[in-house]
Amino acid sequence: MKIFLDTANVQKIKEAAAMGLCDGITTNPTIILKEGRDHKEVINEISALISGPISVEGIGETADEMAKDAVEFSKWGKNIVAKVPMTKEGLKAVRALEAKGIPTNVTLVFSPAQALLAAKAGASYISPFVGRLDDISQDGMALIAEILAILKNYGFKSQVIVASVRSPMHVVEAAKAGAHIATVPPDVFDKLFSHPLTDKGIKMFIEDYKKANAAAGAKK
Ligand code: E4P
Repeated sequence: MKIFLDTANVQKIKEAAAMGLCDGITTNPTIILKEGRDHKEVINEISALISGPISVEGIGETADEMAKDAVEFSKWGKNIVAKVPMTKEGLKAVRALEAKGIPTNVTLVFSPAQALLAAKAGASYISPFVGRLDDISQDGMALIAEILAILKNYGFKSQVIVASVRSPMHVVEAAKAGAHIATVPPDVFDKLFSHPLTDKGIKMFIEDYKKANAAAGAKK
């Protein structure tokens, strides 16, 4: 499974990239607002850091407006993906942009029917929001399994990005389900590394290393 970072925080992206753990980036206006930076400037900087796809979302409501935004975004760096909302206008934009060679990511997907339509329209990526479904007492991960089954049945080329990830278990469940990608916020990414037994084990080995040397030194 590819891991994308769901952030526009350049430091976090650099850190994950240094471990070879950042296959791409997803952003939305809320994520960029958190950084307090201009859209173009931050996307430009991210694009210089990673070679994978970078999803950028505009505010166009008609297909023409969305396509115009996407053409502008694609000038901001390499591998820019146009994020478009799951609406009729959004899917018109998907068709037009994919035909022009600009990859699209259909966002705000909450049902298998929406994913089927996005795949048929030719989206490169489809982003079901698991956390927001869990928030309203619906099973977000069950939606991922349904969408993956539909894509497999018909050999659609779209890749599923498990989005709105809230916990390490969402990432693990995404991998178990066979999702193509999980887009992970930095706080969840950091949690993926931790285990108390790892910390305990490191501490014990350091102490024993020192004890072993001290014991050997005492024998000399
Ligand atoms: C990514 O493509 C989505 O915009 C993001 O994962 C949404 O996350 P949220 O539901 O935590 O805002």
